[in-house]
Amino acid sequence: MPAGSSFRIAVFASGQGSNFQALVDALREGTLGNAEIVLLVCDKPQARVVERARQAGVDTFLFQPKEYNRREDYEAEIAAELANRQVDLIVLAGYMRLLTPVLVEPYAGKMINIHPSLLPAFPGKDAIGQAWEYGVKVTGVTVHLVDGGMDTGAVVAQEPVPLLHGDTIETLEERIHVAERELYPKVVSWFVNGKIAVEGRKVTVSR
Ligand code: GRF
Repeated sequence: MPAGSSFRIAVFASGQGSNFQALVDALREGTLGNAEIVLLVCDKPQARVVERARQAGVDTFLFQPKEYNRREDYEAEIAAELANRQVDLIVLAGYMRLLTPVLVEPYAGKMINIHPSLLPAFPGKDAIGQAWEYGVKVTGVTVHLVDGGMDTGAVVAQEPVPLLHGDTIETLEERIHVAERELYPKVVSWFVNGKIAVEGRKVTVSR
């Protein structure tokens, strides 16, 4: 990134967008550093996150996967949008689709995801429900680099969330979402400020 220019973020999301909103708010408050969200990519044009992007003045790339024969075809269009905007970091925030090498390879080390469990426990869908059913005493949130697998990339940061006496799955879910909204902007700020180093599966953060 040339000196003086801002760090350019694309967010991919499919749903409510509370993590997207946390990033927008952190940017407004100035806690992310010299960065901007230049694009929201969304596979569900009716999703709440799209409205949040409009309110925040963020460009959107909306698409319907069923209109394409293969994942690679819509990902090639997304890749072109990202290249046009010279995106430095892709932030997956509730993007409910697996990615192909079309996006994973060019953005290796520059794409992160947030997952609502302490990986490698409970990857995949409904991680909070899986942890609840298992009966764990501590679960939490993981931010990881994205590779070709399902929630398998190197861990960047984790935040534990203990089960409390009297918890229901709803109260647990709420605390996990609070933890996500605190952790994700912090991790994104590390990328913005060049504090992340990656060596294989070992990700270190300089303080
Ligand atoms: C979050 O729980 C995130 O961990 C998971 O999807 C959910 C997205 O929520 N990957 P939101 O759309 O950011 O509100």
